[in-house]
Amino acid sequence: MIDIFNDFYKGKRVLVTGHTGFKGSWLSIWLHELGAEVVGVGLEPYSERDNFVLSGIGGKIKADIRADIRDGKLMKEIFEEYQPEIVFHLAAQPLVRLSYEIPFETYEVNVMGTINVMEAIRCTNSVKVGVMITTDKCYDNNEQLHGYVETDPFGGYDPYSSSKGACEVAIQSWRRSFFNPDDYGKKHTVSLASVRAGNVIGGGDWALDRIIPDCIRALEANRPIEIRSPKAVRPWEHVLEPLSGYMLLAQKMWDSPTEYCEGWNFGPEEESVSTVWEVATELIQYYGCGELKDCSDPNALHEAKLLMLNVNKAKSRLGWNPRLNMQGCMELVSDWYKRYKTENVYSLCVEEINKFLSV
Ligand SMILES: NC(=O)c1ccc[n+]([C@@H]2O[C@H](COP(=O)([O-])OP(=O)(O)OC[C@H]3O[C@@H](n4cnc5c(N)ncnc54)[C@H](O)[C@@H]3O)[C@@H](O)[C@H]2O)c1
Repeated sequence: MIDIFNDFYKGKRVLVTGHTGFKGSWLSIWLHELGAEVVGVGLEPYSERDNFVLSGIGGKIKADIRADIRDGKLMKEIFEEYQPEIVFHLAAQPLVRLSYEIPFETYEVNVMGTINVMEAIRCTNSVKVGVMITTDKCYDNNEQLHGYVETDPFGGYDPYSSSKGACEVAIQSWRRSFFNPDDYGKKHTVSLASVRAGNVIGGGDWALDRIIPDCIRALEANRPIEIRSPKAVRPWEHVLEPLSGYMLLAQKMWDSPTEYCEGWNFGPEEESVSTVWEVATELIQYYGCGELKDCSDPNALHEAKLLMLNVNKAKSRLGWNPRLNMQGCMELVSDWYKRYKTENVYSLCVEEINKFLSV
């Protein structure tokens, strides 16, 4: 495995919430390959063909724990038992449309769950770095043409987006109140940051109402791909792009705890900002077959039409850069979905990480 972090993760105790999910499973595989002692905290995977299940990563890491982040007492007990040094908090209810159906639960999991994780960090002296994963949708979206910068106001129209905006407010408050960089080394030894990524795509995602899983489900059933919001513009990026940013940030925070404890955007280059229709078109090209059908619904639930991220801060201060253009991204994505049924998925993921790092 190529190691761009120079052995930093080797032997580190890293706790990942949401490790059974799409992004968390990739992060756990990557950290495990780098020699980290990974403890995962999440719910049961959604299906038998999730990346978490197919890769078998749960059986490789130090501890694979099923626990609900809404249970604050349990979170503290898990932290106490495993004494993590670095925490990546990804567990969430991450779907916009579902959040209209279960707004209360979305807030409970996303906001109170995040607070429970921060409280567990506060109670566990071993934790030095906390990277809290929110989303690009945490910004108050006024459909502006230029990308959001880290200092833009938080907000959100739907319950998912606004819950993540609320998470950002809570993270800012906990950082000011309990993990203030001015008090570092005197009152605490924690560096806490929040990270906002764009629309993340990659192998092993089967979530409902996300474009790539929707496409693959249709392709596997030989159905035309029905596109609900063909003109919606999103910052698409391969899952390994933001993960590389989160891991780089955690390393920098470890080395300089008071310098990087802020909010960070990890989105793609402007050229990868494209419409849902364009992304689906690219996918079927690399997948080798498929047909698109415009199913725009004027009565659809509100979803943002335009959303772009400015990533200049991560580029200039962290030296992080997106590696893949849209073609490179789609090649990796379609490769996973073409090969997952017949190949060893853990090896496939490691191969994709190495390919990504070789760009
Ligand atoms: N996928 C994207 O496009 C995207 C973009 C920006 C931000 N994000 C954020 O990244 C994170 C991961 O997203 P994902 O796409 O991998 O989602 P996912 O749905 O695949 O995974 C969610 C994970 O959270 C866990 N979880 C959910 N509720 C829980 C609870 N009550 N207690 C414990 N664990 C719980 C699940 O078990 C799963 O492991 C989320 O915070 C999401 O908001 C995702």
